Amino acid sequence: MQTLILPADASGIETAVSLLAAGEVVAMPTETVYGLAGHAFDEAAVLKIFAAKQRPSFDPLIVHLAEVKGMSLVWLAAEQLIDLAAIPASLRAPLDRLIKSCWPGPLTLVLPRHQRVPELVTSGLATVALRVPAHPVAQALLRQSFPLAAPSANRFGRVSPTAAAAVYAELAGRIPLILDGGRCDIGIESTVVGIDGEQLSLLRPGRLGQYALEVAAGCALSLNQPHPAEVRAPGMLTSHYAPATPVVLAATRADLPALLASHAGSPGVLLLSEPEPRLRALLSERRAVIELLSVTGQLEEVARRLFAGLRELDGRCDVIFAELPAAEDGLAHAIRDRLGKAAAQPHVLASSKNASQSSLGRTAK
Ligand code: TXA
Ligand code: MG
Repeated sequence: MQTLILPADASGIETAVSLLAAGEVVAMPTETVYGLAGHAFDEAAVLKIFAAKQRPSFDPLIVHLAEVKGMSLVWLAAEQLIDLAAIPASLRAPLDRLIKSCWPGPLTLVLPRHQRVPELVTSGLATVALRVPAHPVAQALLRQSFPLAAPSANRFGRVSPTAAAAVYAELAGRIPLILDGGRCDIGIESTVVGIDGEQLSLLRPGRLGQYALEVAAGCALSLNQPHPAEVRAPGMLTSHYAPATPVVLAATRADLPALLASHAGSPGVLLLSEPEPRLRALLSERRAVIELLSVTGQLEEVARRLFAGLRELDGRCDVIFAELPAAEDGLAHAIRDRLGKAAAQPHVLASSKNASQSSLGRTAK
């Protein structure tokens, strides 16, 4: 199959809409990362998504929705997307507040599923993940089509694409069309929030951090502890965003010289901010390939360029040393999460719905 890349203008969007209507899959830009979209209620289209990504069927998809004025849990239930009765009464107002303040935007809500949502989309789970993307191109597609199931547009277990060329590198020959909407503004996937008993729970960190979400919801959010035997959100598996080149984490910048000294080959280094002269001299002496994510260390910029930086280094060195931002809520938490996953060795996929983790990330120190 030939893969076209079209600019995401009116004519590109029209082509994408007709492909989607014909049951095809299309890569589209969102504000977080590029997604591989298909009709969420057409099982044949959803199967094409799993096949193109080589994604195991136990990993459920996010259903993307067009923005509608006054969205709420009641509206989602009326659209036959969720089962309102299965949501604890105490969580309805907090969830409605999250919907009101964070949609459209980088927040995915995992809610009890309506029986109309295909089991294939939710991998047989009793819940469905829903998101209203803010990107104008994604919204244009959604307005002119239907709810779209859309995982990140990468092959399973690899780094999410944040530009059309990166989607092409992942899926060329496997999908008919990539809509090129330029570089994604946020650069890491949406924050995922679910329900854990009578509490809201953070399943995947993202641009919207725990504190901001607690303020928006008006209640506390528990942090989900990944459990190897239970796939709550497979995005939480230790290795889920990994380049082919091994990634080794430096807990702080001060650890980089020792890491460089311990490695005889040709290193790549992912830096969060401009290196000071001594480190720069050391890096050039070692002929390190450098990816500088932000001159000033601004975390929005680091997140935006993180996956592109990993892709840039992948294959140009034999190890990637990546420095971690100091532990904090919000973006720093999300960046640490993604780098930790990039540094983990590939997980072993079990044959059942469960997946086990083969190892923890390699962190210096
Ligand atoms: O920003 C994003 O969320 C991007 C863009 C394209 O919207 N999409 C994305 O999709 O990251 P994906 O499939 O790569 O990640 C979705 C995550 C996965 O970790 C999946 O396991 C989890 O959401 N998920 C989906 N449905 C779920 C459910 N019912 N329960 C728990 N986790 C779920
Ligand atoms: Mg993904």
